[in-house]
Amino acid sequence: MLRTAFTETFGIEHPIVQGGMQWVGTADLVSAVANAGGLGFLTALTQPTPEALTHEIARCRDLTDKPFGVNLTILPTITPPPYDEYRHAIADARVKIVETAGSSPEPHMPFFHDNGIKVIHKCTSVRHAVKAQKVGVDAISIDGFECAGHPGEDDIPGLVLIPAARAQITIPMLASGGFADARGLVAALSLGADGINMGTRFLCTAEAPVHQAVKERMVAATELDTDLIFRQLGNTARVAKNVISEETVQILNAGGEFSDVQHLVSGSRGRTVYGSGDTDAGIWTAGMVQGLITDIPSAGELIERIVREAEELITSRLGGLVAQKVRA
Ligand SMILES: Cc1cc2nc3c(=O)[nH]c(=O)nc-3n(C[C@H](O)[C@H](O)[C@H](O)COP(=O)(O)O)c2cc1C
Repeated sequence: MLRTAFTETFGIEHPIVQGGMQWVGTADLVSAVANAGGLGFLTALTQPTPEALTHEIARCRDLTDKPFGVNLTILPTITPPPYDEYRHAIADARVKIVETAGSSPEPHMPFFHDNGIKVIHKCTSVRHAVKAQKVGVDAISIDGFECAGHPGEDDIPGLVLIPAARAQITIPMLASGGFADARGLVAALSLGADGINMGTRFLCTAEAPVHQAVKERMVAATELDTDLIFRQLGNTARVAKNVISEETVQILNAGGEFSDVQHLVSGSRGRTVYGSGDTDAGIWTAGMVQGLITDIPSAGELIERIVREAEELITSRLGGLVAQKVRA
């Protein structure tokens, strides 16, 4: 049993979190994570309407009686989803943990705290983590450059970002990006984190609602098989490398604009990948940590394995490295 400031503050058995994942963070995966003693997040915007989110929360409750949360990714878009209504759906369903990401959680804090909801804010820089701590979030999830999705524009990997954040963050903190196994968890704890957040590794579990061919593609992939798209637009995203990601990078490198790649990067094409198993059908999200993934376990097997091996690693392997001083 690993006890940390995260497990204590949030009442979660293990310091392992499954972050929000568009099209993937549904009740099937989230309940499996919860039943194994981890913290899973339903992804609010995967549900087409706030009413659909209400139903998905109820479906998750049918599958687990353990705590779980909802991810609310708030991005500046031309036609924003009804964020207020999603927030109300979360509170009305008495969900008690929210993962915010995308932009500052500040405008949402009074509402969440008035409704007894704890907020974990996911961000990619120390300055944003400090700002989030200042506006009262309950924990930080700090995403290094390795991560799937949006790594920000600073390009600081976890090995530096995690301890740099820890130096200024006094609330519980999760390390995110590039974690897949016990070695990563133990490293994260050593660097000052109170647990790990994983996306890619959970995408490659039995319960993730994506086609088997996508999971097998991830097992076959190496750490080299991601692309950074939208660098030129200041909105970098790390995605699985495929013909579409390469074409997107090429067009933007040649001076193209968003409108030139819009047909390639649409969300609906990405969704097709997960549903059909055609891994070249569109842009889909995965991180460098694919290079460490060699199997497709259930979420429960994965969590159990990470915790067991982390305990062994700490007590046997690392403990055994400390040589006793022999006195003459
Ligand atoms: C398929 C997929 C979809 C994701 N969608 C979201 C999302 O909608 N909102 C969000 O905050 N993070 C999203 N993420 C990021 C994860 O929550 C997490 O921060 C990230 O995957 C951590 O890096 P890792 O993949 O190396 O573990 C996504 C990740 C993946 C793999």
